[in-house]
Amino acid sequence: MNSLLGFTFILLALGSCRGLQDNDVDEEPELVFQPSKYGSLWPLPQNVQISDVSLKLSSSSFSITDAKESGAGASCGLLQLAYKRYYEYIFGGAKKQKVNRNARAGPTDLLELQVWITSPDSECDGYPSVSSDESYELTVDQPIAVLKAPKVWGALHGLETFSQLVYEDEYGTKTINSTVISDFPRFPHRGILLDTSRHFLPVKVILTNLEIMAMNKFNVFHWHIVDDPSFPYLSRTFPNLSQKGAYHPYTHVYTPADVKMVIEFARLRGIRVVSEFDTPGHTQSWGKGQTDLLTPCYSGSTPSGTFGPVNPILNSTYEFMTQFFKEISEVFPDAYIHLGGDEVSFACWQSNPDIQKFMEQQGFGKDYRKLESFYIQNRLLDIVAATNKGYIIWQEVFDNGVKLKPDTVVHVWIGSGSNSEISKVTAAGYTTILSAPWYLDYISIGQDWLNYYKVEPLNFNAGTEEQKKLVIGGEACMWGEYVDATNLTPRLWPRASAVAERLWSAKEVTDTGDAFSRLSLHRCRLVERGIPAEPLTPSFCLHEYKGI
Ligand SMILES: *[C@@H]1O[C@H](CO)[C@@H](O)[C@H](O)[C@H]1NC(C)=O
Ligand SMILES: *[C@@H]1O[C@H](CO)[C@@H](O)[C@H](O)[C@H]1NC(C)=O
Ligand SMILES: *[C@@H]1O[C@H](CO)[C@@H](O)[C@H](O)[C@H]1NC(C)=O
Repeated sequence: MNSLLGFTFILLALGSCRGLQDNDVDEEPELVFQPSKYGSLWPLPQNVQISDVSLKLSSSSFSITDAKESGAGASCGLLQLAYKRYYEYIFGGAKKQKVNRNARAGPTDLLELQVWITSPDSECDGYPSVSSDESYELTVDQPIAVLKAPKVWGALHGLETFSQLVYEDEYGTKTINSTVISDFPRFPHRGILLDTSRHFLPVKVILTNLEIMAMNKFNVFHWHIVDDPSFPYLSRTFPNLSQKGAYHPYTHVYTPADVKMVIEFARLRGIRVVSEFDTPGHTQSWGKGQTDLLTPCYSGSTPSGTFGPVNPILNSTYEFMTQFFKEISEVFPDAYIHLGGDEVSFACWQSNPDIQKFMEQQGFGKDYRKLESFYIQNRLLDIVAATNKGYIIWQEVFDNGVKLKPDTVVHVWIGSGSNSEISKVTAAGYTTILSAPWYLDYISIGQDWLNYYKVEPLNFNAGTEEQKKLVIGGEACMWGEYVDATNLTPRLWPRASAVAERLWSAKEVTDTGDAFSRLSLHRCRLVERGIPAEPLTPSFCLHEYKGI
């Protein structure tokens, strides 16, 4: 799904060959680091007031605790694990020391962060969803800071924000300014797509990136888990799919335990895992372990030995899909499954005499979009709906006139500028996710994060207020043709952070100079936390990356 965008990016890349200048994107005035009044906060909260009153934190006296009134106490494992994580981030990996209550607190010390879940149901043991309450309020004052959130999801974001407020004074002492923040996301769907089919990504690398997503307040991991090149998902019902379709049947697969681990690791960070099983195209790897699933292509009147998209005319196809998606709906707890549906090539279908006969019988004429529609609309959507899941599809399914159920979410990946596609999809009344401007697998020299940052998702032609409400967010996509565990993390971060702020912060947050300063510090924070996030421009970090 890269062809159209590639063209634009080639032009961009040529443009920046002129002098290999650092800020050669869109004639940007040179970005100079100037301390922001918002410190290193990223993404910028909705309302922030940071005062000049600074307080010291000491690893021996500071602790993160449950407020007495909190609706989630010591029994909430999700919060207890988060307290430990953030304590370690704040004090640079120092393990939690025994809090010394008798230590004499100076008048300018911050002793405690109290976390107060204000609603009776904290959702501690639940899964995040598109309608989760992610809001929080944070007050930092001497001697106690208070983080209030209706649900654990907001508390997780508030802990990240708190950790971002801590900095080192000139003597290296951990310091935080007295601050008041109230915060909530602008869009509820803020995702990262990772592709584990073109290249296999070890589970550890996926977990690392989930951790970084949490540091950027992303809340959806779109797992493009299988595609043409390989099928690494180990299905309990159809083990031959990965046995035959993975790059390697034992080392390059995600076992049920792996998948469970990814989902729980994500949940503990407020992140949904939306799996994508793309059909009827992009399925070459499926065919290796499931005979008769794909359409045999013909050369003249004989089968050519190659296969095309899923064969939509066989009953066995739908028996397979019913069992397969039943399993998927049980393995992945999220309320949505991404069903793909992009880039279906009709050539193979056209070549096959049985398909031609079926087209005639159904009265489809020569319109193969009707056959695609038959597969998706008449059969697949019903199969998935029977599992009580909602579904997301790539925009072509909509473009090809497939009649969709009103609750379908359409994922827009083609088009730019006025976003005419988004305008068409929302005019038809569908909920929409935007990815077209955020294909981060395309790289160029210079500060291309600015291009991602400057996108305004709701700036489309003829968009009424009703239409704009249908845009629930977006996703940064990292397709895997040229990406594996060696380069995924630095290629993704901090470029995806630009998308994170666009989807979280208020619409008015567009000052690229201020963003540059905060993002530079945010990137250094990622580096300090051990993440190889690439630099924006010639500069240095106080704590440089030390290699693996
Ligand atoms: C924090 O307070 C110090 C003075 O104690 C001030 O110089 C600094 O600008 C403040 N930081 C922010 C982000 O406002
Ligand atoms: C897997 O494939 C082998 C042949 O390669 C076959 O014998 C076996 O029945 C298949 N298993 C399933 C569960 O389909
Ligand atoms: C496929 O299923 C339909 C309806 O269940 C049935 O009418 C039809 O005969 C079946 N086709 C084949 C080839 O088995």
